[in-house]
Parts: sequence; C-alpha cells; structure tokens
Amino acid sequence: MCGIVGYIGKESALDIIIEGLKHLEYRGYDSAGVAFVEKKKIKKIREKGKVDLLKKSIEETKIKVHSAIGHTRWATHGSPTKENTHPHSDCKNKIAIVHNGIIENYLDLKRMLKAKKHKFSSETDTEVIVHLLEENLKHYPIFDSILNTINVLKGSFALLFIFADYPNLMIGIRKNSPLIFAEKENNFYFSSDIVGISSYVDKAYFLDDETIVFLNNSKYSFFDFKGAEKKIFPKKVEKSSFFIEKKGYKHFMLKEIFEQPEAIRETIQDRYSIERGEIDVGVDESLFENIEKIRILSCGTSYHAGLIGQFYFENFSGIETSVSLSSEFYYRDLEDTESTLFIAISQSGETADTLKAIRKIKGKNKIISITNVSESSITRESDAFILTHCGPEISVAATKTFTSQISLLFLLALSIAQKTEYIKKEKIISFLEELRKIPIQMEEILNKSESIEKIAYKYYQKESFLYIGRWINYPVALEGSLKLKEISYIFSEAYAGGQLKHGPISLIDEGTPLVAVAPDDRARNNILSNIEEAKTRGAEIISIGTKGDNELLSLSDAMFVISPVNEFLSPLLTTIYTQLFAYFIALRRGVDIDQPRNLAKSVTVE
Ligand code: F6R
Repeated sequence: MCGIVGYIGKESALDIIIEGLKHLEYRGYDSAGVAFVEKKKIKKIREKGKVDLLKKSIEETKIKVHSAIGHTRWATHGSPTKENTHPHSDCKNKIAIVHNGIIENYLDLKRMLKAKKHKFSSETDTEVIVHLLEENLKHYPIFDSILNTINVLKGSFALLFIFADYPNLMIGIRKNSPLIFAEKENNFYFSSDIVGISSYVDKAYFLDDETIVFLNNSKYSFFDFKGAEKKIFPKKVEKSSFFIEKKGYKHFMLKEIFEQPEAIRETIQDRYSIERGEIDVGVDESLFENIEKIRILSCGTSYHAGLIGQFYFENFSGIETSVSLSSEFYYRDLEDTESTLFIAISQSGETADTLKAIRKIKGKNKIISITNVSESSITRESDAFILTHCGPEISVAATKTFTSQISLLFLLALSIAQKTEYIKKEKIISFLEELRKIPIQMEEILNKSESIEKIAYKYYQKESFLYIGRWINYPVALEGSLKLKEISYIFSEAYAGGQLKHGPISLIDEGTPLVAVAPDDRARNNILSNIEEAKTRGAEIISIGTKGDNELLSLSDAMFVISPVNEFLSPLLTTIYTQLFAYFIALRRGVDIDQPRNLAKSVTVE
C-alpha cells in the first residue's frame, strides 16, 4: 500500500509531486508528506489526512524547488500521526526516504541501530532503512552503502532517497513493491504506478524486481542488488481512453458504475468473432491442453468474480474448478500435478496475498492471470495474462473491474471449451451472442438509477442487512454485501439462500432488510422458498429478479428487475443493482464513498 513519487527536473517539483500523490491516493490516504533539500538540509512538510491538506500547507510556504520526493500513506506500522508520516530522515537530517511496503525484520534492525545511538522519531518500520543507510555511509561510499542497506532488509519495498549533500542525486529501489521510472526532456520521474506520472511522459521503465535506479546529474543507470549494471528498456505509456476525472459525476464510484457497459465492450471486443464462431483471448492455446483441474486464486471482489468463473469452467469445459482466497492458499499442503492450471485474478495486479500465492506454485504449474494493469507484478510473474480494458479504477470499491473480470472469465472458459470441444460450436456462438447484448442490458438498468436511489433512501438508516443468492448469484450476494459494508459502514452478511435455515434465519426479526438476488435461473424456485421463509419471520424483502416474475414481486417490499438473460450471464446485470443500492445508501449517510476509512485500493501488504 502507500504511493510514492519523485521528481528532478526543470519544473516545479512540489506541484508535480502533489499532482502525482493525488493520483496515487487510491493506495492509501491516512497521511501525506514531501521532502526536498533546502539550504543543505532536508526539509519535510507532512500532514495527517489527505493530500489536499498537504497541498494547502505547501502552498502556504510558497517554496519552489526542482527536486522532491513524496508519499501518501496507508498505515501499517505506527498509527496515522504526523510523526509517522513519510518522508523520514536520519539523525543528522541529511537523507530522506519514502517507502512503500513492509520491512519484516525492522525490530531487530532498530535494536541494533539504537545500540549504535541512532535516534528514532517515528514508530514506523521505514525509519530503520534511513538510519541503516546513515550507518553504512560512515564506512562506505554511497553506492556500496545502498547495497549493504537493501541486502539486509527482509520484506517488500519500493524506496526513494534524496540527500542534502548531493542535491542532484535521487535513488529509486524496487523489491516486491512496484516502482516506475521515466524520463522526458531532462525531467525525471518516479512513481508507484504509471497514473502518478502518465500525463508527463510517453515512455517509462517498468522496473523489474530487485532493481536500483541511480539518477545523478541527469544521468541514470540501472543495477541489480549485487551492484551489476543491467539493461532495461522503456515501454510506451498507454494513455487511457477512460480519464481520471469525475466527468460531472459526484463520485468516481458512480462514474465507474456507469462506465461498465463501455468497460465490458472494451474488454471483450476483438477477442471473439460471432461470424466465425471463434474466441481468441490472446493466450497460447497449449496452456489449455490436458488440464485436469483449475484453481482460481484471488481476494475480495476478485475472489467473488472467481466464484462466478468457477461455474463457467465447470459447465463449459467440464473441468473441476476450485476457488481459493489467496491469503489462505499459502498455508495449504496440496499435491497438484502439472495438469492443474492456476488462474490468478487481481484488478491491481499488485495484491501481495495473490502474488505470494502464485509464487508458491510458479515454475511447477502454469498460471494465467487476469488483471487490469499490464505491467503489474502479477502479470509479469504469470505464464500468460489477459487484461480487462476498464481504464483506471479510482474508487476504492471495485465495480467495473468486477464485471469486466466476469466477462473475461466467461470468454476464457469458452475458449477452453473451443479447444477441448466440450460444448458444440453452435452453443458457443449462442453464448457469444448473449454476451454481446450485455452492455445494452446494463445500460437499461443504469437508466433507471433514480428509482434505485428512491428505494435505497428508504433503507439507509437500517443498522444491518442480510443478502442471499443461490448458485451463480450467490457470489453476487457476497459482492453486494461487501460493497454495502465497505462504503456505508453498515454491517451486512451474505448467505447462500439454502443456508438461512441452517443458522442465520435466527437473525431475522420484524423489519430486517434482506436483499435477495433471485433472477430467473435454475435456482429461482428454491430461492423463492428461502425468501418466503424469511418474509414469514418479518424480513423486508428487497429483491432483484427478472421482469415479469409476479410471484417474486408479490413477496417483495421492493423489486428491481433485469431483462431476461442467459442464466450464466445474469450476474453481470444483477450486480449493477447491488452496486447502485450500496452507493445510494452510502451517499445518504454522508460518508467518504471513494475513499472509505481504513481501506486502500491496492493491497500490497499481506
Ligand atoms: C472491494 C475491493 C477489494 C479488492 C481486493 C483485491 O471493493 O476492491 O476487496 O477486490 O483487495 O484486490 P485486487 O483485485 O487488486 O487483487
């Protein structure tokens, strides 16, 4: 988590850093700070809270510099106070550091450094790095000191250093946390994510793991952790057609919900042809040969997409599929043969839990990843990757990436079916025809957002919610419940409809709101019984069903309808209602929808 930015060049460094940090705020927003060199000393400006507060403080100082580093924090070690805010500096205030990641052995290092009389001014793990460098600099030149420092650190780190005595020097280092370096016309940029600097550059170096960038007096070189120089080639920076602006929407989340039809179109187009009845997701088909089992690894919302994908792989290709939370997968002792294919799903491509899970099986099993970021760590560590083409998702709550992941899983499962001929070509064509209609059907729902708003406003004061779904819409219930809790802070829980009677039904009382995802699919009759059981006990039913389902309507206190759709694709429509319902409830409660408390968009710690 956390975002870091660095700049040296001809322009006003603090403006560029602030702009970059604003774009990286999705990585954490507990506090933010900058450091630069002034009168041969490190100067820091730091604020608890969001980047806008820091911006105000910087503007008041009227300082203009041409080199600076900045940080936006998601607190791990040490609460979000001003003292714990990055940048941190050494005892003599000669070196400043910003850090994204976690130093696992920081307590041992801190003990050792304290014994050598280093004075610490924060509770962070990061501060040990800068003191360790200070200690090394007493004995070695800069480059050797850097190598000695980073080679004793355990954990993950993307680091930037500046030095009071060398104002033209900036050092960037990457291990297990992302870092990008770019240059344009003698302006030099570092950022955790390309969105932090994409408006200034056309090409960028997406650094490999264990890389040092040594930038001094407008000259730069790349080194590995042994100190050997290495070659890295810049890549073109894709300018997204989805702009990082709210475009008149009140929140990024709302804009991103409304972008879903376009995101699906962009994600699926060019990957299939109905005329030829063919699918090509851009993955070498040899990966689809002799698959006996599929394991999907993912977290949070991406895990819910995986749960939906499971049905696609099992039904379209007959391959037994399981879905694991990446965070828990690591602890399992599994005896998978080479014939198990792994699929990692991650919007950011940086989720530490998923990265750790794929590293466990890398080299032994083939891994296909589905991410929204082409140069992310997860795409780079997979045997093949397929990108969702959603454009950047800024709101912390995932929306458009979720539905785009589902559409890609659908295509991937069909392309395996195409290879194994598990289902007939005519069937594949009819699935593709149904998929092509989805964006229009999504638009029909989005056009009715006002009616969803009205219903959400009836319920916004409730203290807790239950969600139910069955079969392929059970993951939609899980996702809807997650959306509600993360952005509105209302407690909610989701269950497979059939599980209510095994315990949770005891929670139902007069007026308990229950959201039932019950479109016309193979589970519809059963979920109607579950709804009935809940209603009998006083639940207020907010249902999502298929147009014309009068029986469901008669059981519902409020009902949202989708058009008739192939049962495998219904999650792409029912989800939209759950997203808008959560959004409007949170809106009414007046909370920070795009940046809910305690969260960050990219979870790069375990
Ligand atoms: C919820 C949400 C998170 C992420 C999870 C995994 O709205 O966004 O639950 O889905 O942190 O992130 P990725 O997909 O980047 O691996």
